[in-house]
Amino acid sequence: MQLLDGKVVSQHIKSEIKKEVEEIIATGKRAPHLVAILVGENPASKAYVGSKVKTCAELGFESTLITYEADLQEEILLQKIAELNNDAGIDGILVQLPLPKHISENKIIESISPSKDVDGFHPVNLGKMLLSLPTFIPATPFGMMLMLQHYGIPISGKHCVVIGRSNIVGTPMSILMSRNSEPGNCTVTLCHSKTKNIKEFCLQADIIIAAIGRPKFVTADMVKDGAIILDVGINRIESTETKSGYRLVGDVDFDAVAEKCSYITPVPGGVGLMTICALMKNTLLAYLHNNAS
Ligand code: GUN
Repeated sequence: MQLLDGKVVSQHIKSEIKKEVEEIIATGKRAPHLVAILVGENPASKAYVGSKVKTCAELGFESTLITYEADLQEEILLQKIAELNNDAGIDGILVQLPLPKHISENKIIESISPSKDVDGFHPVNLGKMLLSLPTFIPATPFGMMLMLQHYGIPISGKHCVVIGRSNIVGTPMSILMSRNSEPGNCTVTLCHSKTKNIKEFCLQADIIIAAIGRPKFVTADMVKDGAIILDVGINRIESTETKSGYRLVGDVDFDAVAEKCSYITPVPGGVGLMTICALMKNTLLAYLHNNAS
């Protein structure tokens, strides 16, 4: 078994981005600027946004974090996004999901200018992705593609089972894996909450992408010998062994599955780190596109 190490790969990609930003700034231009918007007190969202802002500083990007209380009116958020859309000094806008129930995520996503939608969630950008046109690829699927590319794992013609059909991860990943591109060209099965016998599908999989949000859902008896495992899950479970009283586990039962598979991503230290890296790549892309002259 070989570990697909998010620390190693993300460090490599981040150092490339950092160098490119240094070169841009040396020519007298401004740095790329990402705005992150956080609504409410969801601890996981706070942690993710904190990591995104920290990584911006590490790479020489400018960043602005805008926080709102959970009872924020939708209209206020729409107004702020309109203001940021019109600000030529802002390259990327991300609104951390999930949003409180009274705010329409679709409405908010659609209000972000597609040219600043570095999450790649806007229907225009998802449509372009579907057609293999240049666009922002959603960060978690993009990060996994970068991981596969980095390790040069041949996946063409393989059977990939994606578990989970979220708009953010499962659905875009199923499309990326099936496209006629490198990496890509897989035969894809998309399993979800209504799929009968997920185990049977998983046992036929050369590649399993677990994005279901259930701790240790994929167990060793569901995995074929030599399969490639990408674990998107970041689940908090109670633990008596840590000071915080919890620890993070993926959607895959790592210890047992690692003994059977050829490649596997750890949690933490796998896909999560790649997500941030992919977001930074998208932000640099937005900057370069919007400051082309
Ligand atoms: N919530 C979980 N993943 C993501 C992500 O990639 N982007 C945003 N904006 N929210 C998320």
